[in-house]
Amino acid sequence: EKGGYDYFMLKEIAEQPKAVADTLLGRIDAAGSLTLDEVRIPASVLREVDKVVIVACGTAYHAGLIAKYAIEHWTRIPCETELASEFRYRDPILDPRTLVVAISQSGETMDTLMALRHAREQGAKVLAICNTNGSTIPRESDAVLYTHAGPEVAVASTKAFLTQLVACYLVALYLGQVRGTKWGDEILSVIRDLSEIAGEVEEVLETMEPVRELARSLADKNTVLFLGRHVGYPVALEGALKLKELAYMHAEGFAAGELKHGPIALIERDVPVVVVVPSPRGRSVLHDKIVSNIQEIRARGARTIVIAERGDEAVRPYADHLIEIPATPVLLQPLVATVPLQVFACELATARGNEVDQPRNLAKSVTVE
Ligand code: F6R
Repeated sequence: EKGGYDYFMLKEIAEQPKAVADTLLGRIDAAGSLTLDEVRIPASVLREVDKVVIVACGTAYHAGLIAKYAIEHWTRIPCETELASEFRYRDPILDPRTLVVAISQSGETMDTLMALRHAREQGAKVLAICNTNGSTIPRESDAVLYTHAGPEVAVASTKAFLTQLVACYLVALYLGQVRGTKWGDEILSVIRDLSEIAGEVEEVLETMEPVRELARSLADKNTVLFLGRHVGYPVALEGALKLKELAYMHAEGFAAGELKHGPIALIERDVPVVVVVPSPRGRSVLHDKIVSNIQEIRARGARTIVIAERGDEAVRPYADHLIEIPATPVLLQPLVATVPLQVFACELATARGNEVDQPRNLAKSVTVE
């Protein structure tokens, strides 16, 4: 059942190109328009939405954090992403013009379910993004967009995360399309770019041997830090979460701009710091800022592990280890930048003798609050 792999996690990492392609399948028509059959919320209602609230837990929450950037950019609708376990306890402001998006691989996560019930009680519309047909969360939602990752067995989420991102981008693009924002041309071009992502994920997977080697060399470290900016920030959080749950190491993700507000005090000789670098194209101001962050931490002795777009020569001199990823549109970068972090965590866990598919104290679906 593991298809020749030692662990389900390795199999599921390898299945990501297919999972991404399957999640896109049949959802974009010949004219480049999105057709989301399963969205049963009428376009007229979606045009009236004045706020989007995303609720989720763990890895799905990180997908939601990335979705916020995409939704606000392409739709100009204010969007917030909230941990499902915090959501209803802060008495959130919800009404029939609020679209709540609940993201869950299993469809059974109690925190997420309670959050969506609360949202519906307040009259908000709920769209579920879910990987499990007929599970509780989609059944209790107004609409569902299924991710087609196939069953995910390993406790640590990998392929489900990538497909959650795809689904979030589709929702963002669809909302943008329905509402006819000024980004119409960009939306069409991003739809085209999305169809190339599966091949790019495949390319990343083919170049992972140095990442595995690097992971093995860090097996005796206590701490690994992760930095990112813009959509790279949630990617950093996700890299840290994977390392905590699989390698049982102290791992923390930071927004790179926050370094000087505290975390830089943690930088000492030889601490591995993984930095997710935004594309030098597009938001190039951010790129330059992160390059200077890398210089700062390196000057303090950090061992810099840099994930950057292929051909990004500006970072090369400051990278102790350079992990190159294909160029993508700025907002889509998490689809390729996350993959090396999954491989990294999986290999570190193996090197430390941990049970990769069944990390201690964790369950695949958390059906208690
Ligand atoms: C991390 C992980 C968990 C889940 C979280 C939500 O690798 O697997 O953080 O992402 O428990 O689960 P779902 O998506 O099933 O609601």
